[in-house]
Amino acid sequence: MNASLAPLVATAQALMAPGKGLLAMDESVGTCNRRLAEVGIAQTPENRHRYRELLVTTPGLSEAISGVILFDETSHQSTAEGVPFVEVLQGAGVLVGIKVDAGAKLLAGHPDEQVTEGLDGLRERLAHYASRGARFAKWRAVLKIGDGLPSRACMLVNAHALARYAALCQEAQLVPIVEPEVLMDGGHTLARCSEVTGEVLHQVFEQLYRQGVVLEGMVLKPNMVLPGLSCAGTASLEEVADATLSCLRRGVPAAVAGIAFLSSGQSAKLATARLNAMNLRAGSQGPETALPANGLPWPLTFSFGRALQQPALGLWAGDDVNRVAAQKALLHRARCNGAAAQGTWRP
Ligand code: 13P
Repeated sequence: MNASLAPLVATAQALMAPGKGLLAMDESVGTCNRRLAEVGIAQTPENRHRYRELLVTTPGLSEAISGVILFDETSHQSTAEGVPFVEVLQGAGVLVGIKVDAGAKLLAGHPDEQVTEGLDGLRERLAHYASRGARFAKWRAVLKIGDGLPSRACMLVNAHALARYAALCQEAQLVPIVEPEVLMDGGHTLARCSEVTGEVLHQVFEQLYRQGVVLEGMVLKPNMVLPGLSCAGTASLEEVADATLSCLRRGVPAAVAGIAFLSSGQSAKLATARLNAMNLRAGSQGPETALPANGLPWPLTFSFGRALQQPALGLWAGDDVNRVAAQKALLHRARCNGAAAQGTWRP
């Protein structure tokens, strides 16, 4: 491998440090406002700022969090004492990441499907964020399961855009987090989610290969393989773990630096339990080679948004009297997920 790639690969490995994962707090203004409203907090710029300050100043965060993903608004904000959030995180030993996509927009000619935009001017934006201390970036594509969905066109355009983004990130010495999310919405079965996730991963890695993305210098952020939210059947921890592991083993090259799941609206505890089950079962299935502790070619960890933040947000409720309790709740979830990333979490 080209020696100039060494810093990129080192960053990807640091993000995937054993027992650590990522805190996704890169909600757009609209999504953050929605989360505040859900727990009865007024949707103001001040409340978004106070909430984000609470998160980034949580004492001990780096015990289980290797990197934090910020949104543009937050990446330019500072604490009440005037310390930029980016510096707070760097000082705490946490790598700073930035969401750089411009959101999912309707895909022409394909009702009900979306393509993620944001490639225009991306090279310049990446250089800007890198100069301000960012070490990695995130781009999320969304794919919906339905009657005849996702279409081949939707999978292809999103995979192509993810690879274009990833190549631009690596040029700027930023580790790309590549996030193709197959949504939980719908009545589909676990088997159907597995089939679609497998196809999506195949398309994404084909495009990453064609566009020359260095797999050792990237992190995959996939969905877990789950039955749809309105599916009549349920799936046990073991069924979810086995279906997800099969999909990943078949679709993700061994050279990828690591895999960090999104939580996609699962409850905080369930997301932890499922991540734990995957690492436990992978390790107990007898690896043919004595590679990593979990018996897989890559670490399996978390890049959760809601499953890390929700208990803390609910406790804070917009009142700084509850600030310390909320920070403790965030740290607790981070530690639980850090343990789950090693298969050592116990309920
Ligand atoms: P959730 O864990 O809440 O799904 O958010 C993760 C994320 O970053 C989605 O892009």
